[in-house]
Amino acid sequence: METQYLELVVRATEQHFPVAIPFQDQILHRQIIVIDSNQHQLDTFNGCLSHHKDPDTTERLLWDLIELLDHNLGSVYTRVTRELYHNTRPWRINKWEEMLTPGLVYVVYGPHARGDTAACLRHRNRNSPLLFLSFMLTEENGITPSDPDRVWSLLYLYEIQLLPPVRGHGLGRKLISEYLTRTAMAVRELTKLTNEQFFGIELTVFAENHEAIRFYRRLGMRRAADSPESRHDDVIPLYYLYVMRIDNVTT
Ligand SMILES: CC(C)(COP(=O)(O)OP(=O)(O)OC[C@H]1O[C@@H](n2cnc3c(N)ncnc32)[C@H](O)[C@@H]1OP(=O)(O)O)[C@@H](O)C(=O)NCCC(=O)NCCS
Repeated sequence: METQYLELVVRATEQHFPVAIPFQDQILHRQIIVIDSNQHQLDTFNGCLSHHKDPDTTERLLWDLIELLDHNLGSVYTRVTRELYHNTRPWRINKWEEMLTPGLVYVVYGPHARGDTAACLRHRNRNSPLLFLSFMLTEENGITPSDPDRVWSLLYLYEIQLLPPVRGHGLGRKLISEYLTRTAMAVRELTKLTNEQFFGIELTVFAENHEAIRFYRRLGMRRAADSPESRHDDVIPLYYLYVMRIDNVTT
């Protein structure tokens, strides 16, 4: 599932995430990065970077995303990496491996010109990304309390990360409630999955990230049936799982 439908996920992403987003006095340009694999290599898409075809460029851009992530949540990852990844390696190493999981699609926005990867790399600091999302089409159970064993297809949102200057202006809501939701609907259509097979969106959020939790709840997301929960002795879990059902008819 992770890579079988990758081309369709990329096509839906290209259709529903705008190539440029006006933000205050600047334009944020889109760059899509795809972690494809030997078995499922991408054909050429418009300006879309394939990890298989161009690992050097892709990995340099992904490293910028680790820097962004470090800025936002580095201190949390440093604290929880052992519990989260069950090893003693630095969190960046664990995250790097996770980021190269085949099937992941990244949508990155920054002031760099679209497709102008060389310029982007020459001026890394000035043009470094301001925000990104990453997601994958996958299968999960534990979604609905009424039938927790049922396996659903869904888009798993691995990351949504905005740097402070672009937060609090409605961009996060747009990215999830409009662009990602439309992408999910298009994925469902393109893959010919039915409403009974495709659930919507799922994600993981650190329990201590109260701001992100408030944000997801404002967007209508709810805890998944198998989300870890606080115990009666008030021990708070490391993370929660949130889900959003997307079942309306597509445009
Ligand atoms: C969480 C994040 C994605 C939200 O994006 P954003 O662009 O700042 O959020 P928006 O401006 O679109 O806000 C959307 C809604 O969420 C609410 N919201 C956003 N941030 C909030 C906060 N810190 N506290 C309470 N509510 C918040 C807004 O009030 C808004 O509600 P409304 O539209 O009904 O008025 C962004 O702040 C971020 O990247 N944070 C750091 C990284 C992170 O924690 N990512 C999540 C990892 S799981």
